[in-house]
Amino acid sequence: MDSKIITADGTETFFNEEYNEAYHSTKAGAYTESLHKFINPTKVKEIVKEKEQVNILDIGFGLAYNVAVCYTEILKVNKNAKLNVISIEKDKNNFERIKSLNLPENLKEFYKLLEKGEFKKEKIGNNTYEVFTLDENNLNLKVVLGEGRQIIKDLQNENIKFDAVFWDAFSPKVNTEMWTVNIFKLVKNLMTEKAVLATYSASLAVRKGLLEAGFKIGLVEPIGRKSYSTVATINGEIPPLTEKEEKRLKTSPYAVPYYDNESLTLSPKEIKETWESSIKQ
Ligand SMILES: C[S@@+](CC[C@H](N)C(=O)[O-])C[C@H]1O[C@@H](n2cnc3c(N)ncnc32)[C@H](O)[C@@H]1O
Repeated sequence: MDSKIITADGTETFFNEEYNEAYHSTKAGAYTESLHKFINPTKVKEIVKEKEQVNILDIGFGLAYNVAVCYTEILKVNKNAKLNVISIEKDKNNFERIKSLNLPENLKEFYKLLEKGEFKKEKIGNNTYEVFTLDENNLNLKVVLGEGRQIIKDLQNENIKFDAVFWDAFSPKVNTEMWTVNIFKLVKNLMTEKAVLATYSASLAVRKGLLEAGFKIGLVEPIGRKSYSTVATINGEIPPLTEKEEKRLKTSPYAVPYYDNESLTLSPKEIKETWESSIKQ
């Protein structure tokens, strides 16, 4: 089992040995990162003031902080709100990691609810997946277990549009397949016009990739570090880019997106090598 870490705000996360990275920013704190980089920027609390159902795409379920904080925050605003979440996750061991977390008091209700979920088989698009399923009052959660790119391809055949997207894979350097223009385009197809996609990443390659996929992008005030995090939308309201960042995106030699092949099957290493050779040119 990977080792646990206590983060800056006192909440716990894990260090993942395969990716050699923590699941959360240790300097911002696991809970704080979730609230400030994902829940607030996607404006889910504003959405449930206007409509009771909110559909969320959660890329990288991990230790479930993003879903837990989202659930906890929206119920503060509207106790009748219904949260429909599709989470994408390849590592079933996260359910064991979650069991060993010492949880912050305000998230305990969510994690207690999570214990009622069951693993079922479900057909999504052309494939059958193992899906952790929970449908209790305010929450309909499906954690689809499998390769993220394949799941996102299969979701294209389901009749669903998301009001918000949490993009929380490990960093582009190690988890490169989850940060390409190709996958951004597919997720864009699944979003409503006003939906906001939020990610902790400040990478130029990611920002350029989102632009190339046809998103408008903006910046979110930093927490626990100097870099701003990133939001993207088709036609919703987001904070603007700074002039400095616009210039960097136009002139920096590192402002080159990551590309997969058409079937989205390249390995992270292949994607990164192609990116590195285009930087050198
Ligand atoms: C940074 S962690 C997510 C933290 C999580 N959002 C939370 O709030 O606790 C990234 C997660 O993405 C998952 N992941 C990485 N690459 C993936 C892929 N290709 N397909 C599906 N899941 C992937 C990892 O297994 C890991 O659980």
